[in-house]
Amino acid sequence: MLKGTPNNSIPQYVKRLAKTRQTPFLAIEKRGIQHKFEQFHQAMPHARFFYAVKTNSHKKIVKLMQSWGSGFEVSSEQELELLFSCGVSPDRIITSNPLKSISFIKFAYASGVKHFAFDSHEEIVKLAKHAPGSHVYVRLTVSNEGSQWPLSRKFGVETEQAAELLVHAAEKSLIPYGITFHVGSQCTEEASWVSAIEKSRTVWDVVQNKGIRLEMLNIGGGFPIEYTDSTPSIDRISSVIEKTLKKELLDNVEIFVEPGRALVGESGIMVSTVIAKARRNRENWLSIDVGVFNGFMESIGGIQYSIITEKEGPLQNWVLAGPSCDSMDVISNEVKLPDLEIGDIVYILSSGAYTTAYASRFNGFPIPKTYFY
Ligand SMILES: Cc1ncc(COP(=O)(O)O)c(C=O)c1O
Repeated sequence: MLKGTPNNSIPQYVKRLAKTRQTPFLAIEKRGIQHKFEQFHQAMPHARFFYAVKTNSHKKIVKLMQSWGSGFEVSSEQELELLFSCGVSPDRIITSNPLKSISFIKFAYASGVKHFAFDSHEEIVKLAKHAPGSHVYVRLTVSNEGSQWPLSRKFGVETEQAAELLVHAAEKSLIPYGITFHVGSQCTEEASWVSAIEKSRTVWDVVQNKGIRLEMLNIGGGFPIEYTDSTPSIDRISSVIEKTLKKELLDNVEIFVEPGRALVGESGIMVSTVIAKARRNRENWLSIDVGVFNGFMESIGGIQYSIITEKEGPLQNWVLAGPSCDSMDVISNEVKLPDLEIGDIVYILSSGAYTTAYASRFNGFPIPKTYFY
């Protein structure tokens, strides 16, 4: 579907930066992140929040989250080292990736991290050996209906196996602590959280009948942000979650939440410059100095960004491409913009999540710098 260019205004500070700094760069509004952080806390006052560091691991963001008292969710030794360099204490760190290397488990455990996810017997054996006595939680596979970035196939097990694995964990002297799931990133379907909580309740009951009393439900991330379409708000989804927890009698257990995209996505604006234009096969092509490989990897999975320019004039259809010599490097096949010239600035909204974090230096193009305001 053809998307129009929304007539949002770009903050003056970002416009000024665009005149004085080398593009591409990412401008992040700190207050915006703080606002989202507070919104989550107000919407789910009893939950514990763990920022998914992978979303945007800029040290400044980690430090901000740390100063607000956030927890963190990590997957690698490098992410752990980053957190420790910012003074984060290990009891505020969990790891929900069920695929962990032995060296990561050893490092995390030796550093004092005590919460690990699993979804296989093999992972339990590794954890029992290298992180004995840890609090472990099973990753349940759940519907990713409504998610633009599904996470279901690679992770998680079905109900029966989840219960069996929790029993195995107990036999191995780990502490079977809870259940985790992820409804898929950028999920706009509230029903996915409802069915995931109901499914978790089933596992909860099965293991309880086997003498295992779980304490924690980790509802993961998945909260959506606005790219080109409006999405259900944090408040709306949280209220559906809270109601379901109550209905399923899980409102008294410890609730963990691991938001990533919804905390930082909307606070980022990518600023780029038009470097080339061409007409090919009756299409107008516009190339800018940031593309799929150095920032917009998620456009390949279907994420469509709002793309803005200060220039005025009749709109026309463009194919918006990145700078590399690779034909996969297309950010959007249909974007409406005026007739731009080489050197004009293009702003890409909601670019704070999974952009610089995914970026490579493919073809020699730099990873965009980040400026905070
Ligand atoms: C285990 C885990 N937790 C949390 C997140 C963050 O999810 P989101 O960015 O959708 O909030 C992810 C994202 O991939 C994840 O894998």
